[in-house]
Amino acid sequence: MNNNVFRNLSYGVYIVACKINGKYTGCTVNSIMQITSSPAIIALSVNHSNYTHTCLEETKRFAVSILSEESNPISIGTFGFRSGRDCNKFENIPYDIIDDLPVIKDACGYLICEIKEKLETHTHSVFIAEVKNGDLLNNKTPMTYSYYHNVIKGKSPKAAPTYIEE
Ligand SMILES: Cc1cc2nc3c(=O)[nH]c(=O)nc-3n(C[C@H](O)[C@H](O)[C@H](O)COP(=O)(O)O)c2cc1C
Repeated sequence: MNNNVFRNLSYGVYIVACKINGKYTGCTVNSIMQITSSPAIIALSVNHSNYTHTCLEETKRFAVSILSEESNPISIGTFGFRSGRDCNKFENIPYDIIDDLPVIKDACGYLICEIKEKLETHTHSVFIAEVKNGDLLNNKTPMTYSYYHNVIKGKSPKAAPTYIEE
């Protein structure tokens, strides 16, 4: 199989965030898709080894910050290449609290979600979640995963479902 064919699937770039034991944490993801519109349901794939996985299982709630082409790429690195087990990822990242969850200030939109179901694969859980709230924050262009790779020249770590060994 030519693994490069997976590069032709399209995604956005998001920060998924939770609140656990009074603290905020989360991680960068690309693997979000809308499943139904009424009720609004999305799916999200998270690696078993991510601290965010533990937090999602425990709290069953998360916020999705939809990054734009003008969002600071430092957020992608902070949330995508470090673990909330070892650091406070929100320490230097501006955010607002919406429905008791953190939303990145320079995102172009957000979703507030409640987990309803979980499907298992060998390495990742697919969380099925109902969108309880959401809004646009500005009119900036949402960042695509291909913009992240081709314009920002960003990489993806092994935990990302789309990881391809170089
Ligand atoms: C662009 C990008 C996309 C990513 N997509 C996902 C994803 O969809 N699912 C996932 O589990 N990890 C994904 N990751 C990896 C996690 O963000 C990374 O493993 C993070 O360090 C986990 O942090 P945590 O241990 O605090 O949860 C992605 C990382 C990057 C940079």
